[in-house]
Amino acid sequence: MAMKISVVVLTGAGVSADSGIDTFRGAGGLWEGHRAEEVATPEAWAAAPEMVWRFYQMRRGKVKEAQPNPAHHALARLEKGLLAAGHGFTLISQNVDDLHQRAGSTVVSMHGSLAVLRCERCGEEVAGLDYLDDTAFQPCPKCEYERMRPDVVWFGEMPYHLEEIDRVMRGATHFLSCGTSGFVYPAAGLLAMARASGAETFVNSLDEPENLDPADHFLPGKAAEVIPELAEEWLGRWGGA
Ligand code: OAD
Repeated sequence: MAMKISVVVLTGAGVSADSGIDTFRGAGGLWEGHRAEEVATPEAWAAAPEMVWRFYQMRRGKVKEAQPNPAHHALARLEKGLLAAGHGFTLISQNVDDLHQRAGSTVVSMHGSLAVLRCERCGEEVAGLDYLDDTAFQPCPKCEYERMRPDVVWFGEMPYHLEEIDRVMRGATHFLSCGTSGFVYPAAGLLAMARASGAETFVNSLDEPENLDPADHFLPGKAAEVIPELAEEWLGRWGGA
């Protein structure tokens, strides 16, 4: 058989921008005068939980209304096609929306999920976006602790699945970074890690991200337009379709 391909894709807020979800560092990055970095911390949750809860309930509500766009669907098709042809494919996302999952992808969600609430006391998790009241906390259904937190990784907390990410990165032959500004580590370091291990690297975003290198193929433009085209090309080459 021809060489086995292992594609790793990292997505950020830009992949969901075409679904109407604001990016972090775009014009819509402020909420009631706060930067995301000020709201998304354990310190903010401890000091002003009502404010943080309102912020996340608003975001959960927006995600519930949003729909996957052609970029999400194309990545799901790419996964299916490459796996069916015996190749490797892993989608890693920094996004806490569930649009990749709803498009049918299997996702390594390194920053957690807005669609899950987690009890800080007993670890119980409640999945779903049904409880959207922003004036009252959701108590834990198991231990009755007064407030569950969104199961998202805040600044200063350890991202999820780092071992698995390290493992797939080492085997990557092709790496695609899509819709991420390259500021937030460790995610921002994956592009350099891919280059170092000899993978061919592709970067899609509107603006040149912070971590772009001349060795990368830079594909400027909207993810909803660029990613379906790239996915079709890769499926034509490796998908056996
Ligand atoms: P950013 O808001 O920092 O960057 C969004 C990137 O997407 C930019 O490079 C834009 O050029 C690009 N972009 C915008 N619209 C696009 C479109 N329609 N198509 C393609 N690209 C587009 O978002 P992230 O890099 O994802 O962390 O942010 C990284 C992390 O910072 C987030 O996961 C979050 C945040 O604080 C935590 O919550 C821990």
